[in-house]
Amino acid sequence: MTLKKNVLVTGGAGYIGSHTCIELLNSGYGVVVFDNFSNSYPETIRRIEKITGKSVILFRGDIRDQKSLEYSLERFGCSIVLHFAGLKAVSDSILRPLEYYDINVMGTLTLLRAMQAKGVEALVFSSSATVYGEPCTLPLTEDHSLTAINPYGRTKLIIEDMLRDFQASSPLMRIAILRYFNPVGAHESGLIGENPLGVPNNLMPIVAQVAVGLREVVNIWGSDYPTPDGTGIRDYIHVVDLAQGHLRALEVLERSEGLTVNLGTGVGYSVLEVIKAFSVASGRAIPYVLAPRRPGDVAVCFADPSRATTLLKWKAQRDLAAMCADTWRFQQANPKGLS
Ligand code: NAD
Ligand code: UFG
Repeated sequence: MTLKKNVLVTGGAGYIGSHTCIELLNSGYGVVVFDNFSNSYPETIRRIEKITGKSVILFRGDIRDQKSLEYSLERFGCSIVLHFAGLKAVSDSILRPLEYYDINVMGTLTLLRAMQAKGVEALVFSSSATVYGEPCTLPLTEDHSLTAINPYGRTKLIIEDMLRDFQASSPLMRIAILRYFNPVGAHESGLIGENPLGVPNNLMPIVAQVAVGLREVVNIWGSDYPTPDGTGIRDYIHVVDLAQGHLRALEVLERSEGLTVNLGTGVGYSVLEVIKAFSVASGRAIPYVLAPRRPGDVAVCFADPSRATTLLKWKAQRDLAAMCADTWRFQQANPKGLS
């Protein structure tokens, strides 16, 4: 296989970034991870190398440091950036919004300046279905109105606007905005997966920790939503499918000026359905209690993935059973996570 381009992967040691590094390496790209390990561990890089049998170049740095970014882009000859680095917890963003604006917005601005200084003209950005706010129509298409209902969502929306303005002013710049739905699951090797520091916020890691005995019970936030079983519905997408979507976006970006696409399955599952599927995958009972709604949650959110199918020739392949089985394999192999 001929060696493809070198890609700078900010946040490449994190959950989605690490799975994408595997797909990049397996497709012949050279990978330069740029991460400050504020929410990840160098051990993940070692495991990426073990899975792929290929080396990763690692640069420990902060995306708010333009000089380090410029150095990495130039030193390692990167011509594309995949930008995962950032803070991502909604409740945390309400408690410390300035950190979110600083790292997410200022960090991305600094990255764009570094790319401009070094003439790097292709960027893939991790956006989120959170930019649709409360859905007015379902499934969510990319031209649904955009809004934000918490500081985290506002940072994603500001970044998207900044990217659109930047692209409009720079004819050679090519930007892919990928709006993820709910990433879950883990690499099938069980070596890497979601590795949250502290108490997880998201459903799947909590369910996995209850199944393995680290936590006693899942609190179901709301059982009076207007859904068939009363619990919230989301579009869960396997992280390996998501990672493969990035590869397709990179290939399409080679011959287009930019794109904005949903990466979801188009299928929604309720909280109770997820718990049931995980119980089957793990062979463990998963105790839960019905608790009040969590502020800021919407009842139902799922994607219309047809633009990704048409534009990227990509479609999620893995079902809920695989998402649970792979999460369980990683959780069992690493009951207390990586460190
Ligand atoms: P993650 O926390 O696992 O990974 C983020 C990585 O960025 C970590 O390795 C962390 O150490 C690094 N990082 C954070 N701040 C940094 C900084 N200032 N400089 C350098 N590195 C820094 O998160 P993830 O789940 O992999 O998410 C990746 C991206 O996808 C984020 O931008 C997130 O907002 C977005 N996203 C995630 C989800 C989700 O549910 N996981 C959903 C939609 C969008
Ligand atoms: N839930 C529970 N109990 C928990 C955790 C979650 O019942 O302990 C429920 C939530 O109420 C929701 C569903 O499980 O109905 C999914 O919740 P998550 O926290 O896993 O995910 P969210 O849909 O709230 O948000 C996630 C990311 C956001 C991103 C969004 C995009 O955390 O960053 O997906 O759709 F913006």
